[in-house]
Amino acid sequence: MAAVSNTFENVKATILSAHESVTSGEKVNFYNSWAENYDQDVAVLDYRAPSLAANSISSHFRGDREAAVVLDVACGTGLVARQMKRHGFGHFVGIDGSEAMLTLARESELYQDLNQSMLGEGPLPVQKGLFDVVVIVGALSAGQVPVNVVRELCKATKPGGHVCMTTRSNLKNVEYKAALEHELKQMEDEGLWTCVEVAEVEDWERAVSEQENGYISGVVYLYRKLQL
Ligand SMILES: C[S@@+](CC[C@H](N)C(=O)[O-])C[C@H]1O[C@@H](n2cnc3c(N)ncnc32)[C@H](O)[C@@H]1O
Repeated sequence: MAAVSNTFENVKATILSAHESVTSGEKVNFYNSWAENYDQDVAVLDYRAPSLAANSISSHFRGDREAAVVLDVACGTGLVARQMKRHGFGHFVGIDGSEAMLTLARESELYQDLNQSMLGEGPLPVQKGLFDVVVIVGALSAGQVPVNVVRELCKATKPGGHVCMTTRSNLKNVEYKAALEHELKQMEDEGLWTCVEVAEVEDWERAVSEQENGYISGVVYLYRKLQL
């Protein structure tokens, strides 16, 4: 059953409780328990990352959107596919570690295929070089998806296809963000992809930590995979 809209203080308490989850498995368990309220709660946080990522992809994608195959990594309940559908994309495959989030993604009827998989524990469970767009939103951050997964995202992408990634720029994520940007640059130096856009967004989402007020900032990265 859909939950009623939560207060900001309650949502903040929920997110802060997630900080007790140390391992990826514990984090995914947290999402299992949050799944039913996730969409309503992130709306309270003014969470705009799915629409910001979809806007970035839409501004740079050239080609047949209906025919394009999109891999939504850490798809959660399906907020990214919902936003991309508004831009004319119609074929989605999703991956997530949380069975409860995947159940809601399945109910959205947006995805042709959904797979349960822990990211960072090996190759992605998809065919390499197949996807026109690979997107990961809200999951590249400290304690969630390890940085080295971005190489797997690139492997899943067609030559000429796009990889869109987001991360937060808040205090807790400073080290992770630096490691992520180092890896993105390293892969560019290796000739795997080229940077299309890096968009820094000030009002990313409402801050929930004790050290920050107002809104935290975040980043959308868009890369194009090169022909090898
Ligand atoms: C903040 S949600 C983002 C969901 C969706 N992309 C969105 O923007 O609404 C993070 C998602 O990443 C998944 N996740 C986090 N760490 C993971 C991991 N190591 N392996 C697989 N899934 C993971 C969680 O289960 C959750 O669904």
